[in-house]
Amino acid sequence: MPPSDKASGIDRNLASYGDKAFSRYLRRAFLASAGYDRNDLERPIIGIADTSSDYNTCHRQMPEMVTAIKRGVLEAGGLPLAFPTISLNEILTSPTTMLFRNLAAMETEEMIRAQPMDAVVLVGGCDKTVPAQAMAAISADIPAIHVVAGPMLAGNWRGQRLGACTDCRRLWTEYRAGKISEEEIREIEASLCATGGTCMVMGTASTMACLIETLGLMLPGGAAPPHATGDRLKQCTASGRCAVELAQANRYPSNILSQGSFHNALTVLLALSGSTNAVVHLLAMARRAGISLTYDDLNRLSKKVPVLVDCKPAGVGYMEDFYHAGGVPVLLKELSPFLDLETMTVTGKTLGETLDGIGMPGDWQSTIRTVDNPLVASGAIVAVSGTLAPNGAVIKAAAASPALMRHQGPAVVFNSPEDAVDRIDDPALGITPDHVLVLRNAGPIGAGMPEAGSLPIPRHLARQGVRDMVRVSDARMSGTAYGTVVLHCAPEAAAGGPLALVKNGDLIKLDVAAGRIDLLVEEEELSRRRKDLVLSPIPKRGWAKLYAEHVLQADEGADLDFL
Ligand code: FES
Repeated sequence: MPPSDKASGIDRNLASYGDKAFSRYLRRAFLASAGYDRNDLERPIIGIADTSSDYNTCHRQMPEMVTAIKRGVLEAGGLPLAFPTISLNEILTSPTTMLFRNLAAMETEEMIRAQPMDAVVLVGGCDKTVPAQAMAAISADIPAIHVVAGPMLAGNWRGQRLGACTDCRRLWTEYRAGKISEEEIREIEASLCATGGTCMVMGTASTMACLIETLGLMLPGGAAPPHATGDRLKQCTASGRCAVELAQANRYPSNILSQGSFHNALTVLLALSGSTNAVVHLLAMARRAGISLTYDDLNRLSKKVPVLVDCKPAGVGYMEDFYHAGGVPVLLKELSPFLDLETMTVTGKTLGETLDGIGMPGDWQSTIRTVDNPLVASGAIVAVSGTLAPNGAVIKAAAASPALMRHQGPAVVFNSPEDAVDRIDDPALGITPDHVLVLRNAGPIGAGMPEAGSLPIPRHLARQGVRDMVRVSDARMSGTAYGTVVLHCAPEAAAGGPLALVKNGDLIKLDVAAGRIDLLVEEEELSRRRKDLVLSPIPKRGWAKLYAEHVLQADEGADLDFL
């Protein structure tokens, strides 16, 4: 949908002074103070949404990236103007960046709409920044191209390759089990994050980068080059040039995105065995684009799409291995039989045209498998539903224990993420490996949907060698996590969903093959409990209040209902 403002360049989105000529004159006067003359201001203006922040180590070299993007814009005859937006770092943001994804999307959309720009380069990386920027660009619907920070290089500890944060979690579990000493965990802490960049396993940031490339909103090959490489900067410069072309071609996100491109993104998510968080983000993006996307689409594709990428947490490799193996273009080439090749991309070529000339995975590498030799035959991520989650829940089956995919056990209930932190190691709870750990009030309304769903294995069980248990919640989990973890239960407990009615000792049955998650309690008893249910009050002020009053459930993408 073209913008309602027909003006272009510096005359777009004029500040309102009741006199358009005065507004234009004033704008030029102020820009003259920054050294811009009439020659500069006749060029197409390319906004650059910059999420650099000292609080975001994943974006450490982003200022250098923005300089490279500006060079590309200037080479192509545009005028680059960078502007800062909220930067969300997973590790330094409390209680969870998910609480602020929609705020970042709103802020970015409004700044795109409010300032003069003919196209925008969205520069993100850490988990929520990329979907937030995509949601903004879809709603603003001006020519837009994504650039991501790119992954960190792998770390090393005593000869072991290390990656954030699959290895963070694995080694922390060993430390909790007493297998790793205090001194060793300190050494590990100093070795996990070797460079700037996003987590270097197939976590949420890497997954979203690959999906944005698949959707056609990024240059081919843009997802995988590590943060520290020259290829990352080359992607930046080329994207700056492409942004000018996009502006001149009037190519909008609405010209690029389609049901086919979202199905392609789900297909790639499954082939990556990527982050479950991407399901929520894709649902939110599709909703904003006015395109139908549901758990049925996920399950239909999940039955047939093989896992081809051998990266942690489902496999063994790191993002630099995926990059050296050819990244998303080579993966897409191998996945061609499963893809809609007529979908459009920022370059103006279809996906099929883009893949012409891309080679198949070479047998000199093992990170991108062939369809004939997959890592897992199918079913990487599955949506389940049942009496415990009538509107659905999600499980990353490829990172779960096969023995637990069909399991029935008594519930141990934690009322909030804080409650779980306080009590999970309490021996008095009598938790056995057969118990089902239930976490509630951690959904969008309840807590902003933190990555609290992969509850730690109780310490006494970890010390006995237990490494996985069935866990069920309305929370999310990190894309770098693993285990038999049922997430995103909807409706959530704070909305009165069945999770709110579970009591300690109730039997819960998970059957992934049957697509079911059930609370084995009679409806009569549940009705009684429902009558006594008292929901927690929502926050009283500020963003948290607005969010809790308007956030949609996970199966609708957890966007705000008015966006
Ligand atoms: Fe930023 Fe993992 S913490 S990508």
